[in-house]
Amino acid sequence: MTNSAKPRPTIVIIGTGGTIAGRGAAGNTSSYDAAVLGIQDIVAAVPQLAQLADIRGEQIMNLPSKNMTDRTMIDTARSVARIAASDADGVVVTHGTDTIEETAYFLNLTIKSAKPIVLVGAMRPSTSLSADGPINLYDAVRVACSKDAAGKGVLLVMNGEIHSARDVTKRNTFQVGAFGSPYGPLGLAVEGHEIFYRAPTRAHTLASDFDIAYIDSLPNVQVIYGHSNVSDVAVRAFIECAVEGIVYAGTGNANLPDALIPALHAARAAGIHVVRASRTGSGSAVRNPDAADLKNGWIVADDQNPQKARLLLALALTRTRKVSELQSYFQKY
Ligand code: SIN
Repeated sequence: MTNSAKPRPTIVIIGTGGTIAGRGAAGNTSSYDAAVLGIQDIVAAVPQLAQLADIRGEQIMNLPSKNMTDRTMIDTARSVARIAASDADGVVVTHGTDTIEETAYFLNLTIKSAKPIVLVGAMRPSTSLSADGPINLYDAVRVACSKDAAGKGVLLVMNGEIHSARDVTKRNTFQVGAFGSPYGPLGLAVEGHEIFYRAPTRAHTLASDFDIAYIDSLPNVQVIYGHSNVSDVAVRAFIECAVEGIVYAGTGNANLPDALIPALHAARAAGIHVVRASRTGSGSAVRNPDAADLKNGWIVADDQNPQKARLLLALALTRTRKVSELQSYFQKY
C-alpha cells in the first residue's frame, strides 16, 4: 500500500466500449446494449475520481469487444503508446470484458513504457441496480496512480483484484467476479488502496521484443477448438485460405488427435506454423516425450491459453519464421 507517485497525477482514461459503457432497462444485469455511453459520461458518473487525479477522457472507439479485431487492437495500442509517452502518469483503458484479456496481453507485449497501464471493464451495465463499472473504474484509476504499479506490465483491475495481463482470463459469463488468473491475482484494490503481493516474472513492455511503433498489421493466425469427433475440415480450410499460423486448443495436454495429423502435416508443408495449446484453462502444455513436436515442427504454448497464444504467435511471426525461435517466445513471454 503506497501513496500516489505525485500529489496530483494525471491519468488519461481511454474509452473503447463494452458493458462499462452499456445501458439497458433499469435493473437488468444481462440484457442491455453494450458500448453506448461515451467516456465523458463514464467519467462523470464517478466524481470521486477527481480526488485521485487530474482526469482526461479520450474516446478512441465504442465497440462491444466481441467485435475487436487485430486492426482495432493495433489502433488501441497506438493510442496507449502515444499517451504513455506524454505527460500523463498512467493510462486506464475501459474495454468490453469479452476480449479485454486479449487487448491487455497485446498491450503488455507491445507498449514501451513502465508507466502504469490498467485495463478495466464491468460485468453489469451502468443502468444496473448494482453496476460494478464505477467501483472498478475508481480502483483502476487508483492503481494507475500508484508507483507500485509501475514496471509490472499491463494490469487488469476488476472486482477488487489486480491481475497481470499475461495471466488473466474471463471465466464466467455474467458474475461480477468473472476474472481469474491461474496463479491468483498480483494484488488487491481495497477501500481505495492497492496492495501488491507479487510481480510478473515473464518479459513484458520495456523488456519485450515487440514495439507497437513498428507493427502495422499482424500475420493471420486462427484458433481451432479441439473436441471428440473433431474433423480436419477447419485445418484444411485454413490451409486453403493461406493463414500463417494455427493454434490448436487441444484437449488435456494440448493433444493432437490422429484425425488431424495428416492435415497438420499438410499445413506445415505449406509453411503454416502450428501451436499446441490446451483448452483446459490451467497447467502447462509439455513437449511430447516421443519428440513428435521437434520432428514435426510443432510449437507448444506453455501455459498460455489459446486466444493469447494466437496473439503471441502472430507477434512472434513478425520477427522470425524459425520454429525453434518461435518456440522460445513461448518460454519468454
Ligand atoms: C463486451 O465485451 O463488449 C460486452 C461484455 C462486457 O463488456 O462485459
